[in-house]
Amino acid sequence: MLAQRPPMGWNSWNTFGKDISEALIIEITDIMADRGYKDAGYEYIIIDDCWSLKERDENGRLVPDPEKFPHGMKYLADYIHSKGLKFGMYSCAGSLTCAGYPSSFGHEYTDAATFAEWEIDYLKYDFCFFPNSGDCKSAYLTMSMALRSCGREILFAACNWGVNEPWTWMRSVGAHTYRSTGDIFDNIKSFNDIASSQAKNLSMSTPGCYNDIDMLIVGMYGKGNVGCENGCSDDEYAMHFAIWSLFSSPLIMGADIRNTNEFSRKLMQNKNLIAINQDIEARPPVILQSAWQECVMMFKILSDNEYVVAFFNFSEKNNYLNNDYFISLPDIGIPYDSGMGLDLTDIMTGEKLGLVRDYVRANVAPHTCKIFKGKLVHA
Ligand code: GLA
Repeated sequence: MLAQRPPMGWNSWNTFGKDISEALIIEITDIMADRGYKDAGYEYIIIDDCWSLKERDENGRLVPDPEKFPHGMKYLADYIHSKGLKFGMYSCAGSLTCAGYPSSFGHEYTDAATFAEWEIDYLKYDFCFFPNSGDCKSAYLTMSMALRSCGREILFAACNWGVNEPWTWMRSVGAHTYRSTGDIFDNIKSFNDIASSQAKNLSMSTPGCYNDIDMLIVGMYGKGNVGCENGCSDDEYAMHFAIWSLFSSPLIMGADIRNTNEFSRKLMQNKNLIAINQDIEARPPVILQSAWQECVMMFKILSDNEYVVAFFNFSEKNNYLNNDYFISLPDIGIPYDSGMGLDLTDIMTGEKLGLVRDYVRANVAPHTCKIFKGKLVHA
């Protein structure tokens, strides 16, 4: 079964845009394999838009740009597979890709066969230049069936940015993930807008088909294709990565991992956050404070009697309690007279909060988060 857990990997778009090449993908593959990313669970290396020539060949097949990819795609697939990793590529349901390259509308079965021949493992399928008269659901179903017929297991990563509420139908047409929002940019407003727009749509995001709230910006610090000024602070990247983890979104890195700093590498390899993201039950969090300009508080049930209590402070200023926030246990299903409490640890610092019986209190400065995990125990 594909996408039993949210897929993890790296994609070229956020940093490199059209500036992609065989040499880059090989370097990224080496970094994935050698600097702890593969061991942390990252698996797919995905080439996004701008990889092909502008014309199909005489047999109607897509052709990799020989200047960018001189040895073709099967060569890259072999290299990536030799490192124990998986290879992803990109096409689009419209008549052209977003950057104006040939796309798969009306060529689905030919393109799926070509991708299978190149031994890819993942296809991101975008939505630009989709004909006004077209039926979006049927376009995604057609590529899904083409991939199912191609003789190779290929994860189908649909990307229609939320058009026609894909959380209500992408599972039925066979997608393994579906992008539910517009593109992310490297600032806190962008990831707040994205997360707040999907918080209510996560119930259908479960094993086999996950709601994808876009690629990660962790470690970009304003550089690259979706970079903005200085990007985010370290604390803001921690908020972003933790929300993606609690939402069970695919974790697809977008930074230039050849140069990411120690903070970002450790954050993206944080075992505790990745374990929350990869929890087999993939339950969305209960959102306790839904004003996304303030401190958003969440409670997430994991498998094996484990629970996460999280605070994300999006406020611009200190609050009147000097940034103390509280979640009372009755609000998360544990009445005071239940005889139960939570035994919690701060997963970012390792600090033990111990057994709480009445409320979880956290001091959360603006643009920071606190994430606690623990078990429900007799108090
Ligand atoms: C769209 C997608 C992005 C990226 C670009 C490529 O904007 O949403 O993730 O794939 O196209 O052109």
